Amino acid sequence: MDIEGLKAIIIGGASGFARATAERIVAGGGAVAILDREESAGAEVAASLGGTWHPTNVLDFDGIAVVIDEAVDTLGGLHVAVNTAGGGKAGRTLGRGGPFDLDDFRAVIDLNLIGTFNTNRLCAAHMAEGDPNDDGERGVLINTSSIAAFEGQIGQVAYTAAKAGIAGMTLTMARDLGSLGIRVNTIAPSLFATGLTAGVTEDRAVNLTKDAAFPKRLGRPDEYARLAIAIIENPMLNGDTIRLDAGTRFAPK
Ligand SMILES: NC(=O)c1ccc[n+]([C@@H]2O[C@H](COP(=O)([O-])OP(=O)(O)OC[C@H]3O[C@@H](n4cnc5c(N)ncnc54)[C@H](O)[C@@H]3O)[C@@H](O)[C@H]2O)c1
Repeated sequence: MDIEGLKAIIIGGASGFARATAERIVAGGGAVAILDREESAGAEVAASLGGTWHPTNVLDFDGIAVVIDEAVDTLGGLHVAVNTAGGGKAGRTLGRGGPFDLDDFRAVIDLNLIGTFNTNRLCAAHMAEGDPNDDGERGVLINTSSIAAFEGQIGQVAYTAAKAGIAGMTLTMARDLGSLGIRVNTIAPSLFATGLTAGVTEDRAVNLTKDAAFPKRLGRPDEYARLAIAIIENPMLNGDTIRLDAGTRFAPK
């Protein structure tokens, strides 16, 4: 799918991976609707990109449906949805304070897994209404997992479960949506320098990147954006979770 002329919803678009992806889409001639939390920098980011701003919370599962409808109306259609809203809550299965709290576990699943599935199913419904391009493509969904989906560290049990769920549903969703010309891919990053990791200390960053093959550094948001653009442009990329990790395999801690 060509970037020129495409219409994209960017969830988490006020910062980090999603913002960098929005910048690349606009630079390539596409249009973006930025969805993010009210208190984020979404309004400024949208204005700087000539895009539209739609405050929302992915945890408001019903409310975001209305916001997505509005965003698609404003864009005049939908070809691409990128979702990076997510995060974790640290804690061992059994810690000093007792077993991991189930409400905390559910909250991490809600934000990452249910939130992702909800936006995917809603965006797919809009994409299905569009005309296919010459290759029969109607849309591309790009989700965000983590290499913790495959080798979660001690204390990442909830995050690992949620991110593994995103990776696990990718091929099935691609199969579900294949007859409509909608592709689904997931990016699984290692440690990147974004808003989420702004509080990671230098020592911890060195520790978390020491097992990379090359380069041994934090990734840059634009490196995620470049993969997102490749996914959009290449029709043969489908149903896959692609590690973006410089050859890193997380150690247990
Ligand atoms: N940065 C990393 O090292 C790294 C590594 C692996 C995976 N991830 C994943 O990437 C995603 C975070 O993206 P980032 O690293 O660019 O961080 P970021 O904080 O720079 O951007 C995330 C954006 O998502 C928004 N967001 C968070 N919760 C939301 C909600 N409930 N509703 C709406 N918007 C919400 C935030 O306001 C923020 O603007 C998460 O899914 C995280 O698990 C990050």
